[in-house]
Amino acid sequence: GKVAVLMGGASAEREVSLMSGSGVLKALLSKGVDAHAFDPAERPLDDLQREGFERCFIALHGRFGEDGTVQGALELLGIPYTGSGVMASAISMDKVMTKRIWRFEGLSTPAWAQVSSPAETHAAFAKLGAPMIVKPAREGSSIGFTKVMTADQCDAAYALAAQHDVEVLCEQFIAGDEVTCPVLGPTAAPRALPLIRIVAPDGNYDYQNKYFTDVTQYLVPAGLPAGEEEAIAALVLKAYSVLGCRGWARADVMIDAATRTPYLLEINTSPGMTGHSLVPMSAKASGISYEDLCVQLLQSATL
Ligand code: DAL
Ligand code: MG
Repeated sequence: GKVAVLMGGASAEREVSLMSGSGVLKALLSKGVDAHAFDPAERPLDDLQREGFERCFIALHGRFGEDGTVQGALELLGIPYTGSGVMASAISMDKVMTKRIWRFEGLSTPAWAQVSSPAETHAAFAKLGAPMIVKPAREGSSIGFTKVMTADQCDAAYALAAQHDVEVLCEQFIAGDEVTCPVLGPTAAPRALPLIRIVAPDGNYDYQNKYFTDVTQYLVPAGLPAGEEEAIAALVLKAYSVLGCRGWARADVMIDAATRTPYLLEINTSPGMTGHSLVPMSAKASGISYEDLCVQLLQSATL
């Protein structure tokens, strides 16, 4: 049947989604799938039903795509889609809600405060200490993100994050190794793909270094001390399951350099599929080509 690759969309990560979507579209076409690009920012989603699409590959990132809204619309239209359902998508898009659930389940995540003014950001800095990350609660790709080193940076950091979301999150910065772990499969039986360790120049794995420069190093195998990779994979699988994620996702983790404790930062329910992206890199390291990964994900599409 006809497959729509949903790409573009109205979020701040539109540009990234267009890169992910073109990769996925090309891969599916190369495997003989009758796939077409579909941009929900340009046309109503119910065109999918009118035009006889039978499945959707969601390659949208951020709000109105990764946050349960498109998933809800597809539920109503009765068209199976890749990735998590409405609730897990909505919760995972919101870093504060995600952290509350992880904390409740006893999974480690850095200390945080939700703030709604510059004054509250200063108060959070006094409590959490330097460095402190200030970021919009519902964004991706490091958009609107500041690493605050001194109190005088709090006002600008809040203002930047608040441009992107009414919900702003302050989070204790964990200094140490930065790793990511993709997960494939249903909530009840997910499996982790190999961890990737990310070494960005000066630790700045920002929007430019994520997609447009070649200065970031990606280590897979991650080369962590014995036992750590298994422990992190187990933590990430739990993090995925307690949120009810399905299909696939990718969790980002920081490992405290002093204590070697892994801290969950967030989970992405529609991970990047660009030429620089991490899930395809990890899949490749475990013997799954980009094309096969796309087909496998498409086959897992469900309602
Ligand atoms: N938010 C981007 C697309 C990612 O996590 O890969
Ligand atoms: Mg993200």
